[in-house]
Amino acid sequence: MKNILVIGATSAIAEQTIRLYAKQNTNLYLLGRDEEKLQAIAQDAQIRGAESASFHVLDFNNFDRHPKVLEAAFAKLGTIDLVLIAHGSLPNQQACEESVETTLRELNTNAISGIALLTLIANQMEMQGCGTIAVITSVAGDRGRQSNYVYGAAKGMLSIFLQGLRNRLFKKGVHVLDIKPGFVDTPMTAEFKKGPLWAKPETIAKQIVKAVERRKNTLYTPWFWSIIMLIIRNIPEVVFKKLKL
Ligand SMILES: NC(=O)c1ccc[n+]([C@@H]2O[C@H](COP(=O)([O-])OP(=O)(O)OC[C@H]3O[C@@H](n4cnc5c(N)ncnc54)[C@H](OP(=O)(O)O)[C@@H]3O)[C@@H](O)[C@H]2O)c1
Repeated sequence: MKNILVIGATSAIAEQTIRLYAKQNTNLYLLGRDEEKLQAIAQDAQIRGAESASFHVLDFNNFDRHPKVLEAAFAKLGTIDLVLIAHGSLPNQQACEESVETTLRELNTNAISGIALLTLIANQMEMQGCGTIAVITSVAGDRGRQSNYVYGAAKGMLSIFLQGLRNRLFKKGVHVLDIKPGFVDTPMTAEFKKGPLWAKPETIAKQIVKAVERRKNTLYTPWFWSIIMLIIRNIPEVVFKKLKL
């Protein structure tokens, strides 16, 4: 990997992934909405060995600004070896049920903003004819559950979009990786009680780097989530709808 664009660079999982890529003499271009955090992550990356680390402030729900910001990133990086999309938010399901506005905002953050960015990125990557697009979705996108189906629907939408994009870009030499973490101990889940199924962002980051290298299509991380989700996906709906999940 040489030239890397990270969207949602201030996420704990992205930050750990950036640390690993920084050691590989990479040129990094970081996007996020928190300037102070971005600056700190860019500086840290350079100390760890990145050849360069630029950043630009962007709220990803500000759709009108996507084209200009991406153009600047493409111009700075030249040929892009990897795009990692990591931003997201964990909505309060109850609040979504009570407000259309909240539901739509969460769908924008967790699905539509990613899809809008990917539409522009995909055309650029298709033109260059190489590189990898890696997007963090979630195991929550595998099946709708009463406790978080707005988040699940958004992540599921993103995963289906990625399937189609992979199918399209495969012939053009561009690889698409869907990263599906289970429970990860990050600011997003700070209020949750942690247990044996929980992983550290450092672990997820190592798995992401490996999956990019191996050109995996889908990464369940940690690995045991592939088994858990296989079971969850296969519970018959007549049973599933009675469960409290
Ligand atoms: N943690 C988990 O258990 C878990 C499980 C499965 C999937 N995931 C997914 O993993 C990814 C990374 O999350 P994380 O766990 O590392 O949590 P995190 O540290 O809370 O990261 C979420 C990031 O998204 C950014 N963000 C949210 N809305 C944004 C917007 N409108 N514009 C720009 N940036 C925005 C946040 O920016 P600020 O720093 O400015 O708030 C933050 O950097 C997310 O896609 C999440 O859905 C997480």
